[in-house]
Amino acid sequence: MKNENGFQETASLTVGGKTVQLPVIIGSEGERAIDISSLREKTGYITLDPGLGNTGICKSQITFMNGEEGILRYRGIPVDELAEHSTFVETAYLLINGILPTRMQLNKFSVQLNDQSLVHEDMKGFYQNIPPRSHPMGILSSMVNTLESFYPILKTTTKIEEINTTLTRIISKVRTMAAMSYKISRGHRVVYPRPDLCYCGNFLNMMFDSPVRPYQLDKSAIKALNVFWILHADHEQNCSTSAVRLVGSGRVNVYAAISAGIAALWGPLHGGANQAVIEMLEAIQANGGNISPFVERAKDKNDPYRLMGFGHRVYKAYDPRAKIINKTAHALLEKMQISDPLLDIAQKLEQVALKDDYFIEYRLYPNVDFYSGIVLRALGIPTNMFTVMFALGRMPGWIAQWKEDADDPNWRLYRPRQIYIGQNTTHYIPIEERV
Ligand code: ACO
Repeated sequence: MKNENGFQETASLTVGGKTVQLPVIIGSEGERAIDISSLREKTGYITLDPGLGNTGICKSQITFMNGEEGILRYRGIPVDELAEHSTFVETAYLLINGILPTRMQLNKFSVQLNDQSLVHEDMKGFYQNIPPRSHPMGILSSMVNTLESFYPILKTTTKIEEINTTLTRIISKVRTMAAMSYKISRGHRVVYPRPDLCYCGNFLNMMFDSPVRPYQLDKSAIKALNVFWILHADHEQNCSTSAVRLVGSGRVNVYAAISAGIAALWGPLHGGANQAVIEMLEAIQANGGNISPFVERAKDKNDPYRLMGFGHRVYKAYDPRAKIINKTAHALLEKMQISDPLLDIAQKLEQVALKDDYFIEYRLYPNVDFYSGIVLRALGIPTNMFTVMFALGRMPGWIAQWKEDADDPNWRLYRPRQIYIGQNTTHYIPIEERV
């Protein structure tokens, strides 16, 4: 790969008395990587990078982010433009297919989403037998895995139509499954998808419509949900997406790979942070709105406590998604004429943290999860379903990333190495001789 001056850049590495040249890969936005794929073969050494902060696991054409400058683009389009002008369905098409759809393509995709939106009736039985206190993320992960039994896919990955149907099926059905899970958890009748409603409108209706209180769909709620899901639609090689790629590399079916992504997203350091933020803001509220003990705890190195919704592995500037979701939260509350005391607390907390030397030094800014819970609360989503909402939004990204791997003729099994630091050879001791 040639650099700006037309030369193939290489990195020279001297190790173990040997010097090797390693090719430098240059991305379309100028970012650089040393290709170490021949390192072990040439030198006998591997690299060690706990947390993979310096390791590129693939080349990708899907999402570009620049953490220093707070840039995020899907297929080259800035996320703020998509949040303003696009819909979640259109953005999903863009991520998966690489281009914005024509009107005809978008209509076809929307019809497919509608056609795939019902869930096999027998799946209801699973929901009914899950213990009532189960976390919705565990349920969603299991249910997506179960889709393989209800909608088996062909073992060959060559039939494009069949693959596309499966991918559309996942995006469509997860929305029905999430709403179904909520209704059943409340002991209420399941609400079916309607062909006259858009993707987001359908979800809200399936969640909140009831025979005794018909749900009034509100344009601002639909817009806010579109924005929320667009902002969550992809984020290159984060923890859950890497899980999808890694699990998928074993050539397991795509449902299982996505199910692994959902499980990875559940963690409080990742997607679970949106639930943790609201719990933190509620704790501050219960503490009379006194922010300072929470900030002090987060700074205390003897305390594992962290300010939830702050910090990011890649963003060392303000997360561009946080800015948009903050604006969306304000617009939604104003339109719905709701006042949420947690939004005031969040704003105060942000102001305090951004002026604090600790947060400045560590370059900790609000991330997407900091304000997203305020939007979800205004939409009526229960706190324990926040991370499910994130997962529904991330579905097109996981699918696009899985597909990018699956379409790559050089797709290899992910199999990292390690540096073993355990016991050297020792021998089996019969139990009666052990002390
Ligand atoms: N509050 C207080 N200190 C923090 C915070 C925080 N939110 N985030 C990072 N730090 C500190 C750590 O204590 C650590 O300090 P040390 O070097 O003195 O030990 C330093 O910053 C680096 O922390 P790491 O965990 O090594 O950094 P990493 O890049 O892995 O962290 C992460 C990123 C996990 C997101 C972290 O900032 C965090 O835990 N934030 C809170 C949880 C959160 O909001 N997660 C959502 C992320 S966005 C997403 O996944 C959708």
